[in-house]
Amino acid sequence: MKFDSPAGTSAIDQGRVVGKPVPRIDGPLKTTGTAPYAYERHDVAPDAAYGYVLGSAIAKGRIRSMALDAAMAAPGVLAVVTRDDAPADPKSGFNTARLIAGPDVEHYDQAVAMVVAETFEQARAAAQLIRIDYARADGRFDLAAEKGSAAKPPSSGFGGVADTAVGDFAGAFAAAPVTVDTTCTTPDQSHAMMEPHATTAVWDDGGVRVWTSNQMVAWNHGALAKMLALPKDKVRLISPYVGGGFGAKLFPRADLLLAALGARKAGRPVKVALQRPLIMNNTTHRPATIQRVRIGADRDGRITAIGHEGWSGDLPGGGPETAVNQTRIFYAGANRMTRTRLAVLDLPEGNAMRAPGEAPGLMALEIAMDELAEKLGIDPVELRIINDTQVDPEQPERRFSERHFVECLRTGAERFGWSERRARPGQRREGDWLIGMGVAGGFRNNLLGKSAARVTLETSGRLTVHTDMTDIGTGSYTIIAQTAAETMGLPVDRIDVRLGDSADPVSAGSGGQWGANNSTAGVYAACMALREKIATALGINSADARFEDGRILTGNRRIPLGDAARSGAISAEDAIEYGDIDERFALATFAAHFCEVAVNAITGETRIKRMLAVCDAGRILNPMSARSQVIGAMTMGIGAALMEDAVVDKRFGFFVNHDLAGYEVPVHADVPHLEVVFLDHPDACSSPMKAKGVGELGLCGAAAAVANAIYNATGARVREYPITLDKLLDALPANA
Ligand code: MOS
Repeated sequence: MKFDSPAGTSAIDQGRVVGKPVPRIDGPLKTTGTAPYAYERHDVAPDAAYGYVLGSAIAKGRIRSMALDAAMAAPGVLAVVTRDDAPADPKSGFNTARLIAGPDVEHYDQAVAMVVAETFEQARAAAQLIRIDYARADGRFDLAAEKGSAAKPPSSGFGGVADTAVGDFAGAFAAAPVTVDTTCTTPDQSHAMMEPHATTAVWDDGGVRVWTSNQMVAWNHGALAKMLALPKDKVRLISPYVGGGFGAKLFPRADLLLAALGARKAGRPVKVALQRPLIMNNTTHRPATIQRVRIGADRDGRITAIGHEGWSGDLPGGGPETAVNQTRIFYAGANRMTRTRLAVLDLPEGNAMRAPGEAPGLMALEIAMDELAEKLGIDPVELRIINDTQVDPEQPERRFSERHFVECLRTGAERFGWSERRARPGQRREGDWLIGMGVAGGFRNNLLGKSAARVTLETSGRLTVHTDMTDIGTGSYTIIAQTAAETMGLPVDRIDVRLGDSADPVSAGSGGQWGANNSTAGVYAACMALREKIATALGINSADARFEDGRILTGNRRIPLGDAARSGAISAEDAIEYGDIDERFALATFAAHFCEVAVNAITGETRIKRMLAVCDAGRILNPMSARSQVIGAMTMGIGAALMEDAVVDKRFGFFVNHDLAGYEVPVHADVPHLEVVFLDHPDACSSPMKAKGVGELGLCGAAAAVANAIYNATGARVREYPITLDKLLDALPANA
């Protein structure tokens, strides 16, 4: 199904199932511990041996020699996998560094070997017996120190360009009566999902099957086949349940390649989970940024000049954090510039983490907007309303398909009781606690991508959906079932959804908050193709037929849907494919984030009192799973504002706090009531579903709302995230 003009009315608009808070159909499996995860596939890979990955002890340099004898002779050891067992180039097009080192080492904890043994403990013990003689070389580990050498990257990622300019930014900024020029830093962050990267691999008939924890089945299926130099039909990748990803599982990691190599070498099924302390330095992370935002406005608050520069670092050949991109399009203003610069750092590979670009970008931009509002003496909600734009400010002929940012702000201000906020900071105090409120705008793009599915009406009368889409804890199973139920006129409990198998039609996968809209649109396309086939089989005209309550209604006939499959299952496959609609229209999602904090006047501790996100994200397919996504994202925003910080050892080049004890994320005690409001504005330009992404939107702007609330509470402006108490102490009001 081609989608290249705004959607008209379709079966989806009936809203009988789609748009309803259907509880997650995988919920019982999850809560009873019976959903099989990649490391637990005893059912399909009994008698699997255990792989234990050894990470490099140096960040940069060379392995001079490696002594494996003691490890090989250790109890239970079946094989040791090293670079010698790996293909010539042990990385895929999705990796910056090789998935196994040797002789060169590119980053700390890059895999150098994997021991395969009968038990996990035996593999771990033997790995400690591997003796490696390293030649350590100097590396570059400090973004601030390398900032001056940062260069213009080929692109700013996701189709962005490194430098943009409209009008005369420098002239307009110099001439503006009110300006802010603010520099913020955001730290390296780790995805810290609950389920580690894990793979179980089995070889048979010259091919390999892997059960792995992965967001993008087709990408990784192709990548593994390429790394192993096998035809794609000799590789099968299965990822039906994923215990969180946040971007860490978009691309192949060491567990995937090494499980396959280990199983081949040991002649046994092998399972590998990256131990928690390896994850931070072996896999990817969100790169630290330095960001400078300059905004000039007239005295009425209209932005006349807006500029955003971002610096980040990555290994040679890597890419930048795309922190400036939203500033190209979020606010009005005739004179604009963005600039992205990339330094070479020898830290582990940087890459996408939930809402790459906007998440750190808005942490800087939305602080600058708060500072501008204060200088202007304009309420920060009003300042954002004044600078709303309904067109892409770089190309005014290109309209936003749907943009209700102003409604987000107004609804949020009303619901949150924004009028209670004191404009001057440090004015509200309850005992030892300083109380403040903050607001920030939220913006996240909405990406369109091809997505296919196959649907089968079984002879039993049930409908099965097959697509290689993943459910990374997001609710994909449920919204896909809702889509099929709506389109075919069946109840949700007559739909079976099969996800995450490379043998099935290629979906958009889970990433960049594109999964829900695209994957359900693909299922809708397949269902419409099936309706056509069914009509043909029954000799009726599909245009006159309604699919309702398990029946087909046409003229005065009421045919049970199951009749179409009486003499055999009937199946159809199709994909949603997009033209240039996302070039003709600007497609994006919007939010207003509100936060109230209490900051202890003596200790500087921050407690979030409450938060609200008002989201404009097209049709909400399932308000229950969407709300879960948004409150999860807001929780991540609390972490970004207050805690998350992968601390770099600048001498030896690694992230020091490499486990969940040292790398702090919010726990229940840190998270108060979070409220989410969804505006109801289906977007006819995004797909036949009229839905958009929402899972990352909840993070975009959330941390800045916390930062702005802390400023309002204390009068202390911290521009170096995370806002830990040590950064507040000196700045707390002297009388506090
Ligand atoms: Mo997202 S960072 O594309 O999983």
